[in-house]
Amino acid sequence: MAKEKYQYYFVLGTNHSLCKADIVNVLAREKAKFSILEASEEILIVETKGKIDTEKLINTLGSAVKIGEIFKKYEPKNFPDNLLKETESEKFKNFFLKEKTPSSHFAISVYNGGGGFKGLNRLWFSCPKIASYLNQKTKVHYLRWRERKIPSFIVDQKKLLKTGFELMLANGRQNIYVGKTTALQDYQSYSFRDYQRPQKDPHSGMIPPKLAKIMINLAGKEKNQTFLDPFCGSGTFLQELILLGYKNIIGADKNPKAIEATKKNLDWLFSQYSLNKKDYSLKIFESDVRVLSSKLPSQSVDAIVSEPYLGPPRAKYFSPHQMRQEIARLASFYLSAFTGLKPVLKKDAAVVIIFPVFKLKNQFFQLEILEKLRQLGFSPQDFVSPKIPGAKLLSLKITPRRSIIFFHPGQTISREIFIFKTSHLK
Ligand SMILES: C[S@@+](CC[C@H](N)C(=O)[O-])C[C@H]1O[C@@H](n2cnc3c(N)ncnc32)[C@H](O)[C@@H]1O
Repeated sequence: MAKEKYQYYFVLGTNHSLCKADIVNVLAREKAKFSILEASEEILIVETKGKIDTEKLINTLGSAVKIGEIFKKYEPKNFPDNLLKETESEKFKNFFLKEKTPSSHFAISVYNGGGGFKGLNRLWFSCPKIASYLNQKTKVHYLRWRERKIPSFIVDQKKLLKTGFELMLANGRQNIYVGKTTALQDYQSYSFRDYQRPQKDPHSGMIPPKLAKIMINLAGKEKNQTFLDPFCGSGTFLQELILLGYKNIIGADKNPKAIEATKKNLDWLFSQYSLNKKDYSLKIFESDVRVLSSKLPSQSVDAIVSEPYLGPPRAKYFSPHQMRQEIARLASFYLSAFTGLKPVLKKDAAVVIIFPVFKLKNQFFQLEILEKLRQLGFSPQDFVSPKIPGAKLLSLKITPRRSIIFFHPGQTISREIFIFKTSHLK
């Protein structure tokens, strides 16, 4: 029997390009049959064959702030009357109002779904009419919010998913999509492991756990494949790998204090998240990346996810000349790291890695090592396969070097993310 079609929306977190790449890659890895219907910097709407478990999916993704199911799409010309006419239908009640008590609440969020700003404004101005009509007809109380997008913590605190609903309106290119949120990012768990873990490392910095998760997903590997972070610091990538259910994990760092911190953090994680350490094959040891291949079997690693050294924090005071010297030092460090890692990688391994990018007095400084890496056998890959139906709609901001830059506004150092594949290792 052919599977039924469903439509879902994903509200995107920081850096829309990485977020869209995360969602599309996870759906593809989970073998979902899907096409992209609409995309903007705020939201992604897809059609799938078969239903999706949105609560499970949102925990796998590092990117989506909310996920919801689309009820129906409407012609903008007659909106909101065409929607309001349906609010007393069984279909509407079953979708939005099932098991709702008279004391429950609903709220409305409006997103740019890829259509123009005029349509977005019109949609936003239609909210009071929709709210008062729904209020009268359904007896569910309207929770007025001053902004277009209701923050997740409000949806959570007001229990909108369990005892009410969040009505989502998005203006697509031709249609208005109406849906309800079904899953929220577990923001409390992210900040818990961000701030409560025992060992933090203010010196070498910590990658945000959501970004670590996105990068792990971008590697596109299965749960039984082997991951390595050769610059593991205090263990953020390893922590997210464990939570995602990866079983074969290796972490190395040249600093013994980092190894100690990683071990403490992971023990804390196992106890706080009630996970059994024995279910994982974990290798965590001290090593300089340049000699790592003497400590691991050759061609044994399927994926590297890592944030190596990004340069000194004092870079912001550098003159352009000093910056060029620093860039040359970093370039040779990164090249020696890739050379050291090459022997341990399997033939079709993925390397999802961060390079530093500096912005000094409106001038950008990047590591110019891509040609040398290519000669070594590492080539930058697409973030999303162009074969995915509707991929063009994504409008990802990819640099001409095939990277995505995760900008830190107002800071000198930003992160440049690459996915390298090693299918042509020489
Ligand atoms: C930016 S930190 C990694 C932070 C880590 N992703 C986290 O979130 O905790 C970089 C790490 O690289 C390590 N490192 C620097 N040079 C190294 C080398 N040659 N070999 C191995 N590790 C090195 C440092 O000790 C530091 O812990």
